Amino acid sequence: MSIKIMLVAGARPNFMKIAPLWSEMNRFRTGFEPIILHTGQHYDYEMSKVFFEDLDLPEPHYFLGVGSGTHAEQTGKIMIEFEKVIQNENPEWVIVFGDVNSTLACSVTAKKLFIPVVHVEAGLRSFDMTMPEEINRKVTDAISDVLFTPSKDGDENLIREGIERKRIHFVGNIMIDSLILILSRIDPPYEDKIFEKFGLKKNHFVLVTLHRPLNVDDGNNLRKIMNFLNTLSLRIPVIFPVHPRTRKNINGFDPKFISKGAFKIIEPLRYKEFITLEKYSKFVLTDSGGIQEETTYLNIPCLTLRPNTERPITLTQGTNELVSMESIEDRIDLILVEKWKQGEKPELWDGKTAKRIVELLKGMEI
Ligand code: UD1
Repeated sequence: MSIKIMLVAGARPNFMKIAPLWSEMNRFRTGFEPIILHTGQHYDYEMSKVFFEDLDLPEPHYFLGVGSGTHAEQTGKIMIEFEKVIQNENPEWVIVFGDVNSTLACSVTAKKLFIPVVHVEAGLRSFDMTMPEEINRKVTDAISDVLFTPSKDGDENLIREGIERKRIHFVGNIMIDSLILILSRIDPPYEDKIFEKFGLKKNHFVLVTLHRPLNVDDGNNLRKIMNFLNTLSLRIPVIFPVHPRTRKNINGFDPKFISKGAFKIIEPLRYKEFITLEKYSKFVLTDSGGIQEETTYLNIPCLTLRPNTERPITLTQGTNELVSMESIEDRIDLILVEKWKQGEKPELWDGKTAKRIVELLKGMEI
């Protein structure tokens, strides 16, 4: 008899975490029967479906189609729909990933129906309760039965919050499993195609991603950043795949924003395209969590436009640094004269995290 496990994904950063576990659980005789549920928190093609294609994920078994809304609306809608699925499917375990609204909504719903919850990427903390993700992380961790951490700071945070040691397992970073897989599929002809498509030269451009409310929700702030990038593009080409949240706010600019020649503002990219650009960028400017980790793995300088990070290991061991609009120019000067720190790969960021998780789950009685 196999064990029915529901894997929950909702937003773009979840898809690369779910994929390695899906493929590992489907190996011969693991004893697991994984079911994929997509809440539909992200629904645009570039934000969702193409990730399933790039990561060899099948069509989700369940798609809740909840879409956008306020935090309460989105979380509430996911809970209502997820509860029906759980009652119908009755999985033995529910596995949630990361820190998005779907993570919180589905962990709480499952737990109240007495289904054991496993949290992959547990224990990360920015200590900034103005971030919705920090609330999602803390609530999910507090109620999860099994907590898999990507780095040892995660274990320390959980122990400090009173989580029993025996429920915490340091397994490494599952997103790096997907990164390693996709890197193995990026060959020179594909790279040539991508660099031709975007009109860029390897190692001579900056890759930008910004979508946090802190940076993009305030029009004046966002315009300041965009003007800065426009000026930067006079020194080095800049490419900015724009998240829908950011796009909406740029479209609302009055007067309209006009980019200079070397500042390319494009649609969100599919995973394989994005990683190809990331691998060959001079540096990355971002406010994403996952990209701080990917650049550390790839040893690409990363400037994170945020006052804090829930991934401190990327600062202490990796290539990442936190910047503000005041400090950013100096940091860029350093990178452009090749004076950036070298990173080292954090422990267990080795492409085998999904394997470790499956081995641990096999031996567990819940
Ligand atoms: C969500 C996550 C964030 C993660 C990010 C990655 C939460 C609280 N936030 O933020 O942690 O870093 O995903 O992308 O879960 N929209 C579309 N199409 C889509 C999705 C969103 O147009 O497919 C627009 C909607 O207008 C929506 C806005 O973008 O209102 C924001 O989307 P939402 O899912 O609420 O949060 P993200 O900013 O994407």
